[in-house]
Amino acid sequence: MEPLVALCKRRGIVFPGSEIYGGLAGTWDWGPVGALLKKNYKDLWWKDAVQLRDDIVGIDSAIMMNPKAWEASGHTTGFVDPLIECKICHQRFRPDKPKEVKSHEATHRGKAVEWTEPQKFNLLVKAYLGIIEGKQTEIFLRGEITNGVHVNFKNVLDTTRVKIPFGIAQIGKAFRNEITPGNFVFRSREFEQLEVQFYIKPDESEGRKWFEYWKKDRMNWFLSLGMKRENLRFRDHEDDEKAHYAKAATDIEYNSPWGWQEMMGIHNRGDWDLSRHQQFSDKNLTYRDPETNEAYVPWDIETSSGLERPLLFILLDAYHKDEKREWLQLDPKLAPYKAAVFPLVPNKPDLVAKAGEIYHNLRKSMMVSWDDRGNIGKRYAAQDEVGTPFCITVDYTTLEDQTVTVRERDSMEQKRVPVSELEAYILKVL
Ligand code: GAP
Repeated sequence: MEPLVALCKRRGIVFPGSEIYGGLAGTWDWGPVGALLKKNYKDLWWKDAVQLRDDIVGIDSAIMMNPKAWEASGHTTGFVDPLIECKICHQRFRPDKPKEVKSHEATHRGKAVEWTEPQKFNLLVKAYLGIIEGKQTEIFLRGEITNGVHVNFKNVLDTTRVKIPFGIAQIGKAFRNEITPGNFVFRSREFEQLEVQFYIKPDESEGRKWFEYWKKDRMNWFLSLGMKRENLRFRDHEDDEKAHYAKAATDIEYNSPWGWQEMMGIHNRGDWDLSRHQQFSDKNLTYRDPETNEAYVPWDIETSSGLERPLLFILLDAYHKDEKREWLQLDPKLAPYKAAVFPLVPNKPDLVAKAGEIYHNLRKSMMVSWDDRGNIGKRYAAQDEVGTPFCITVDYTTLEDQTVTVRERDSMEQKRVPVSELEAYILKVL
């Protein structure tokens, strides 16, 4: 982790939040390169989850919601007791229930379980709306993006042509009063989530079928981003660790430097959410099957992952170091910059002009970096550290034969490529 964290700071991927004021625990600011990485991940995810599918639509719901939504989902009642937290798996228990505490310790099979001091927990972050002091309404910043989807179930049904089975996708910020943020961006207090709530017929065999479908689909998603198969595994939740809403739950875990850790969750939430919102809002949230005319509250198979956490694991997988260099072997689809353009020297106007022309043309179709500082070796090193797949050098030969040197990040191989074929050459790899 240490060299990766240092690289992230050095190259503008991730900075500690509010750093000049001494920071704010559990918050991180993504720099110029990190913001591109995040955007690429989210764009690819949206394309995969929404653009290329007929059965999923996307929404973007508000972060601030009527507090009743959090009562309905069980979040406000579930997190206000004094609780102790297991430092291994972060599950929380009431200290006045020693039997439960002991039986939890036993699940860690002989490991010495350490507990935090009892604290009054409210995982939801409070905010206050209203301008008159003392007359403000207490609300919560969303602890997960899920509720915003469920409360719009009817709106989506009424405004689109979706039929069960169908999904609603969303990407957005979530906030949690984590008591033990840590391991860099792994557990933060502010983070983004990418979720699909996939509504199905309320039926055990449908539930199993779609649960298995989404497990496979999500594993393939991470593999499609170049993650190493040996660093990924499924882990089914034991009955006593399932969330209050889950009929079945599996995590995709990553083999991190501090052990196997949850990267995302796949949950069969049954009809928990829609039934509760129906009950608390007093609105009919049933679905009427157009063929059988049967009305029912659908079940929900949820796939939920963070953004920063998978990106941390992708960066760990991509991080390489040998005696000569450090580099991020990122899938070119994810790479913040697809190419970098260098004039061989910065003080020859015709070289700089030619390189500038190539740079301006290429950046119409992809993110391209420009560098004319120091020697070429240093420029390669800087681009390797942010995972740029191609470095393009414009030299004196370019002025004669309209070719450039293209250097590939992983193999470090160099080829002469005609300027007229450059864009196609790079897009082919992307
Ligand atoms: N809607 C279900 C839900 O939110 P979760 O297991 O609490 O389930 C889903 O969260 C995913 O969100 C996690 O697998 C992880 O990738 C990400 N996540 C959760 N808490 C996080 C935190 N404090 N910091 C960063 N990512 C977090």
